[in-house]
Amino acid sequence: MNIVLFGPPGAGKGTQAALLVQRLGMFHISTGDIFRENIKNKTPLGIEAKNYLDKGALVPDSVTISMVDDTLAKLSGKKFILDGFPRNLNQAMVLESILKKLSLQVGGAIFLKVPFAPLIKRLTGRRVCKNCGAVFHVEFSPPKAAGICDKCGKESIYQREDDKEAVIEKRLKTYEESTLPLVEYYRKTGIYKEISGTEDTERVFEKIKQLIS
Ligand code: AP5
Repeated sequence: MNIVLFGPPGAGKGTQAALLVQRLGMFHISTGDIFRENIKNKTPLGIEAKNYLDKGALVPDSVTISMVDDTLAKLSGKKFILDGFPRNLNQAMVLESILKKLSLQVGGAIFLKVPFAPLIKRLTGRRVCKNCGAVFHVEFSPPKAAGICDKCGKESIYQREDDKEAVIEKRLKTYEESTLPLVEYYRKTGIYKEISGTEDTERVFEKIKQLIS
């Protein structure tokens, strides 16, 4: 089943998507990761997107939608996870027409529900590998050797610019205003599924697996 994985910043979308890729062979489409890759490579898209990411605001729909359209068009039959897209009602509606155009279907819109307090701790403590994208947490899942990625062995662990407290506040506000209304939107479409994201990573994964199998 193709799925949309959505929820607040730090809910664990990227962490769960990585497990779905590793264990179930799904294809991960993360708009946030695509933007960060472009920022790293200083492409025109990255230069434009950086202004928005640094402020915790959404990148304009015109840019984001065509990026997702292109990615979905290139999929070769693999089951996919949309992580971080759609992120507002307009994106959700346009996604429906893209899927129709490409004869694709999403069977579940899974909402990872986590209250704000744990999110702040998760985001301020998150560390990411610049080289391979592996995600760590200084307290909950630290790398074995400080600063060194367990997955690729490179000394490339860093803190995302938007994981500083001032930006986190803005991201949470953007989430409440733009993304939270997707809960009602997907409830009405009949594909809405909700999971508590406060349990440990393996339990959350098992629940997602049950929902999609
Ligand atoms: P994006 O990268 O999508 O950020 P986000 O949605 O804010 O989500 P995060 O990546 O912060 O969190 P996550 O849920 O993946 O959590 P993770 O698994 O890492 O987007 C970044 C920016 O790009 C946006 O602000 C916007 O500017 C732009 N953008 C992206 N998509 C867009 C769109 N569609 N339209 C417009 N603009 C867009 O986990 C977080 C931490 O918690 C980690 O340290 C992890 O180890 C830990 N953790 C995870 N699960 C658990 C658990 N169960 N228990 C304890 N700790 C856990």
